[in-house]
Amino acid sequence: MHFIKVILFVTTFISVTISQAHPAGFNFGWGGHHGGTTRGMSFGLSPQFYQFSCPQANDIVMSVLEKAIAKDIRTAASLLRLHFHDCFVQGCDASILLDDSAAIASEKNGGPNKNSVRGFEVIDKIKSKLEQACPQTVSCADIVALAARGSTVLSGGPNWELPLGRRDSKTASLRGSNKNIPPPNATIEGLLTFFKRQGLDEVDLVALSGAHTIGVAKCATFKQRLYNQNGNNQPDENLDKSFYFDLKTVCPKSGGDNKISPLDFGSPRMFDNTYYKLLLRGKGLLNSDEVLLTGSVKETHELVKKYAQDESLFFEQFALSMIKLGNLRPLTGFNGEVRKNCRLVN
Ligand code: HEM
Ligand SMILES: *[C@@H]1O[C@H](CO)[C@@H](O)[C@H](O)[C@H]1NC(C)=O
Repeated sequence: MHFIKVILFVTTFISVTISQAHPAGFNFGWGGHHGGTTRGMSFGLSPQFYQFSCPQANDIVMSVLEKAIAKDIRTAASLLRLHFHDCFVQGCDASILLDDSAAIASEKNGGPNKNSVRGFEVIDKIKSKLEQACPQTVSCADIVALAARGSTVLSGGPNWELPLGRRDSKTASLRGSNKNIPPPNATIEGLLTFFKRQGLDEVDLVALSGAHTIGVAKCATFKQRLYNQNGNNQPDENLDKSFYFDLKTVCPKSGGDNKISPLDFGSPRMFDNTYYKLLLRGKGLLNSDEVLLTGSVKETHELVKKYAQDESLFFEQFALSMIKLGNLRPLTGFNGEVRKNCRLVN
């Protein structure tokens, strides 16, 4: 009798200890590839991370996305961009989702984000469904990564096996959001500096820029090219002439900063390689798009031509580079937390 009590006590003690100490969704090594071992822990990301704790996670993400994208096609583009802007600032940790509060200076107010990043309500919707199905299990950082992949797939782009197990930050970096995200008027050298700082190379730069096959940009982000490219009050000479005249009707010299133009006007809703085909014709919207072909770095010219010629090569490399992007400095194991509300630290 006493013996049984002891065993009961011990098992209760262990399970309580484990459930408190171990992050929800952590899996202990059943079922192969997983979160880690209990000594000398290594917590890598793994596609099977929610296999036992929330097997329906991706289905829930996809069903919310389908509805949100049917209602507003731009949502797909906005969610893909959100993952990029999350990962380039203290890693893929959902820091971009945190609202302003006493302790948080929100990244949403950073120059590249303010009045520009979108999709937060869709993330909230996914989170609330996941909290119903699997409480305190799926991190906001993983939701952002799943939403970026799902948006790519639903737009006609490639699919990939997505490593999961990111945890959410308890901090944000407004400074990082101003410092780490490249501006649209960057030169090729500038773009490569921003990407290399994150451990990404010229292949990643050219492939990930292909995300501009969907979505739009505001006049303010390409106005410099139309009216004063080099401080000489002249347009960018690499802009195709008829494209230049079209853009001027959307984006006047003064005012109209919030008017929008598609990044890939050939097929703005379709994830395909038209973006690169347009670059070859001087019809890329942002300076950062055009310099992939016209900048001083030969390797990127060649990559643009290859992706314009071979869509499946682009899709393959896009998937690989998205996995690299999604692996940037994640919080794992006992670091960070799984937020209950993506906008707030627990
Ligand atoms: C290479 C450097 C990059 C620069 C300079 C850049 C810049 C920009 C700018 C200025 C906009 C328009 C924002 C606005 O007007 O509100 C934009 C939109 C967008 N960017 Fe990028 N971007 C870059 C790379 C990326 C990457 C790596 C991704 C994703 C993998 C991405 C995905 C998108 C998408 C999908 C949109 C459209 C968003 C929407 O319609 O809501 N961009 N980008
Ligand atoms: C890019 O735009 C910013 C803000 O408008 C400006 O200060 C900067 O000089 C521009 N950079 C280049 C390379 O033109």
